[in-house]
Amino acid sequence: MTRITYLNGQYIAHENAMVHVEDRGFQLADGVYEVIAFHNGRFLDGGPHLDRLEYSLRELEIAMPLPRAELEAVTRELLIRNDRRDGNLYLQVTRGVAPRVHSFPKNPVPPTLIMYLTEPVWPTEAEIKNGVSVITLADQRWARPDIKSISLLPNVLAKEKAIRANAKEAVFIAPDGATVREGSSTNAFMVDANGALVTHPANGAILSGITRNVVLALARKEGITIEERAFTLADISTAREFFLTGTTTRVLPIVSMDGKSVCGGKAGPVAARLYTLYMAHIAAQTGDA
Ligand code: PDD
Repeated sequence: MTRITYLNGQYIAHENAMVHVEDRGFQLADGVYEVIAFHNGRFLDGGPHLDRLEYSLRELEIAMPLPRAELEAVTRELLIRNDRRDGNLYLQVTRGVAPRVHSFPKNPVPPTLIMYLTEPVWPTEAEIKNGVSVITLADQRWARPDIKSISLLPNVLAKEKAIRANAKEAVFIAPDGATVREGSSTNAFMVDANGALVTHPANGAILSGITRNVVLALARKEGITIEERAFTLADISTAREFFLTGTTTRVLPIVSMDGKSVCGGKAGPVAARLYTLYMAHIAAQTGDA
């Protein structure tokens, strides 16, 4: 079956989905994106993802390419046309095609809207059960990681370094050399020595992850103490647990950092419980078993 991609109002064969050389996304990384999981033919947390898309666009003064209801209709149509029930939707909006200048185009142009479906690569059972390794790196991103910008060069280099170090993720450390911000495509949590669940506040220095926010809500319902505050590398050395969250990562324990074992080298019960609750959240929303 032909893979169908949506590009600026048209459903076309994926291999023919091309943008212009002067698309501002291509030349200047002048655009934003979202990755939304779907299960059983239904989107997971689609509302919050589209809220964040609208936020990112607003912050960059890029017009919403379609009214939200029409945009949602396209997302559903893509599942039908591709006959897919499980996967991820990649959605990207750029400022459009215009002669290359750094400033916004003088004459407004329509934004470029791209949507297509990708194969999910969920963490393996072994990774969820036994945990994964991370490396730490200085956060070299721009000062607005709260915007889900397609300008991902520091994230690209960080993930490649992680992979070359046989690690799953690179965790960004703030310029103070100590504060743990987030992963290159994930948010970071720890369970401190008192059992509190701690994660960096969504104060502009990280992406306000949709999975992060769902996991916080699930933990709150469980009666787990939550502290949205900065935590450091030193805190991890005394933490009970350390883990990642994200659309493609779900809830993933970390057992090694920069080649040294952390949290006793074992995945902990809080991450396991939150993973179970997160999978139940998927099932409740999408009917996925
Ligand atoms: N990444 N932090 C960063 C820097 C991210 O890029 C992402 C998502 C997250 C997790 O956010 P969410 O729970 O909303 O997926 C945190 C996507 C999946 C990506 O770039 O592919």
